[in-house]
Amino acid sequence: MNIDNIKEQFPIFNNKINNKDLVYLDSANSSQKPIDVIDRMYDFYTKEFSNVGRSVHYLAVAATNLYENTRISVQKYINAKDKNEIVFTKGATEAINLVANTYGQKNLKEGDEVLLTELEHHSNYVPWHYLRKLKGVKIEFAEINNVGEVTLESIEKKITSKTKMIAITHLSNVTGAILPIKEITQLAHSKGIPVLVDGCQGAPHLKLDMQDLDCDFYAISCHKMYGPTGLGILYAKKKWLEELPPYQGGGGMIERVKKNDISYGDLPNKYEAGTMATAQVIAFDESIKFLNKIGIENITKHEKDLMDYGQEILRKNNSVKLIGNPKKKGAVLSFTIEGIHPHDIATILDEDGVAIRAGHHCCQILHDKLGLNATARASLGIYNTREDIDKLNLAINKCKKIFSLK
Ligand code: ALA
Repeated sequence: MNIDNIKEQFPIFNNKINNKDLVYLDSANSSQKPIDVIDRMYDFYTKEFSNVGRSVHYLAVAATNLYENTRISVQKYINAKDKNEIVFTKGATEAINLVANTYGQKNLKEGDEVLLTELEHHSNYVPWHYLRKLKGVKIEFAEINNVGEVTLESIEKKITSKTKMIAITHLSNVTGAILPIKEITQLAHSKGIPVLVDGCQGAPHLKLDMQDLDCDFYAISCHKMYGPTGLGILYAKKKWLEELPPYQGGGGMIERVKKNDISYGDLPNKYEAGTMATAQVIAFDESIKFLNKIGIENITKHEKDLMDYGQEILRKNNSVKLIGNPKKKGAVLSFTIEGIHPHDIATILDEDGVAIRAGHHCCQILHDKLGLNATARASLGIYNTREDIDKLNLAINKCKKIFSLK
């Protein structure tokens, strides 16, 4: 695989940041966009724009077909059984809110338990917290071990007869731990508990096969998958989408509206109220083409090689402490440097064009558990190279020098 050729497909890398080449190490936050995705948005707005699913004129029908084509591409990409199991949302956050809200409304009552893990980012905690406030639902947390993983055993320990939902991340955005989703789902299903997977970090880096994983819900963030912002995907087994109530009300999701009654549209329209993120959905088809052209196995392998290299280099660097050392780890390198606040690290690295994230990464519960206010995090994407890791290390050394560290 020729990575230079991949980098060339991302126009952002033509720009200098602080007069330096950009070393973008913040893909867990949001990935950069390939030219084909950007062009597709431009072309759609300039030549093909119309709202979808409503009018019968030429542009409307063509746009509707394009929109539905992306649904089929997503279905194939994640190996869902049915295209109607793919619901477009405005983000992974909305996808999780949709499930918490509708499943909570229908199936949860006071005293029922929702099992999360200590690794969850706020999008997979706050929506469940609302149910705690609203209905008296309890939230339990499967604990991390000393390498920053959540094991099957730690999930099993927290399951009780009151557990009514297990909602877990596929890949931690801080420790990089990859959870054994298939095994957790098998265990949960043996006890009649549905499983929601927060795939924000899993989907951009790992092969997805919904029929094999067998989870009930899987939330995807398209802007982390080389796609546009403002778009997410909820995969949900058909039976849930049929059974659960609608989430938002509005145009497009109804079948018949009368003064005293409303019936809802077929799947997936029932869950797609109002004008959708049409251009983003249509452009996301290009992201899937981009991922397919490289091949997800090649992406996973490339990022793992880089991550191993990054761990090796940073471990040798005095005073850098890597956070988490899970056996199965995704493309994330979180670290601290004793005596330097992560925000100072990020600011100094930025002077050299090295873009990382510092803070709690929307995981305050995890940081509390680790006894840290903040960490610095370099997260990888398909465009990163070993040279990027070397530049990260050099910039860290410069930062240490400023703070008189060895
Ligand atoms: N976008 C968040 C991150 O940076 C959650 O990991």
